Amino acid sequence: MTGADSNSVNGSPFNFSEDLRPWKDAPVLIGSTRFMPLPHTENIMITGGAGFIASWVVRHLTMTYPAYNIVSFDKLDYCFSLKNTRMPNGTQNFTFYKGDITNENEVLDCLGRHNIDTIFHFAAQSHVDQSFCNSYNFTHTNVYGTHYPHVLLESARKVGIKWFIHISTDEVYGEAKDDDRDFLETRMLAPTNLYAASKTAAEMLVHSYLKSFILLVIIAYCTNVFSLHRYPEKIISKFIYQLNRGQPVTLQGDGSPTRWLLYAGDAASAFDMILHKGQVGQIYNIGADLLEEFQISQSTPGDVQKWDHQYAIDDTKLRWLGWEQKIQGISRSVDGYSNQVTALCGT
Ligand SMILES: NC(=O)c1ccc[n+]([C@@H]2O[C@H](COP(=O)([O-])OP(=O)(O)OC[C@H]3O[C@@H](n4cnc5c(N)ncnc54)[C@H](O)[C@@H]3O)[C@@H](O)[C@H]2O)c1
Repeated sequence: MTGADSNSVNGSPFNFSEDLRPWKDAPVLIGSTRFMPLPHTENIMITGGAGFIASWVVRHLTMTYPAYNIVSFDKLDYCFSLKNTRMPNGTQNFTFYKGDITNENEVLDCLGRHNIDTIFHFAAQSHVDQSFCNSYNFTHTNVYGTHYPHVLLESARKVGIKWFIHISTDEVYGEAKDDDRDFLETRMLAPTNLYAASKTAAEMLVHSYLKSFILLVIIAYCTNVFSLHRYPEKIISKFIYQLNRGQPVTLQGDGSPTRWLLYAGDAASAFDMILHKGQVGQIYNIGADLLEEFQISQSTPGDVQKWDHQYAIDDTKLRWLGWEQKIQGISRSVDGYSNQVTALCGT
């Protein structure tokens, strides 16, 4: 399937019949970086491409690099929105493939059909709170979906994929205490929740493919990301959803955990930087500055010990490559978010 029939899902027409006005009026949101296209890269598969962060990367790479063919591979789980990639739909270098990373036939079919040479692996169960009550689902998608024969790494090995960029989270380091120095990429991994544990397990398998099968792997640990296109289950998008309905905002635990938040455009630029400038076998932290305006001290009853106090990473290594955080503050997200949340949630 090429851009010419990209208004389809695996060959069948897809009807975008929902109200698209918020998206039509919205600016096309992408990152700010642009590099010389890589000589060894032509066809890039982005797993989880209809989700939040990966859709930013899909839009950014499709719009910025006509030389690359971008294939968004997604099973369309509860948190997806094909509207996230509505904009590149119809462009020659964009294709959507509906598939599940735990289904080897679908993965192999996509890799072969599109002659993929590079995989950007974002697809995951990513909501920590859900991992407390639905942990098997996290192992199934995040570990089995990534590992032999289950499925992505082994499929990549089978068809001779060379480049594999694995997206993970700063939560793999575990909780940072107030007096800890920011964690470097050499820090021992010590995840404390089921989501982070499943991401850590998957990453061990990714490392093994670098050594055992010379799969050229780069790993990125990203801090929390916010902006438009986020399903309203996490902070900021969830707050706007609740406030729009006159509901009180709900905080995790007693409200004391601190989170660093990175604008998704800066995250997309970081992933672009890692694709074009990252060194094989390396890990890159993608950090952010603390949003002072977003510190909330009001306490809400809750199961306090479940949530880590904070994560704190040192992203000097990525900054050495040339990356910088350009957007501070959350106004970019709040502007227009109300419309988008309404469209997603239907009320
Ligand atoms: N959101 C953050 O702040 C953050 C921070 C650091 C790292 N990450 C990582 O970034 C990645 C993307 O996170 P997100 O918040 O954008 O997630 P998201 O929940 O918005 O999107 C995940 C996407 O993956 C798809 N998906 C889920 N299971 C799949 C499967 N089995 N096969 C194919 N597709 C599947 C979903 O349909 C969805 O479109 C994850 O790997 C996550 O661990 C996220």
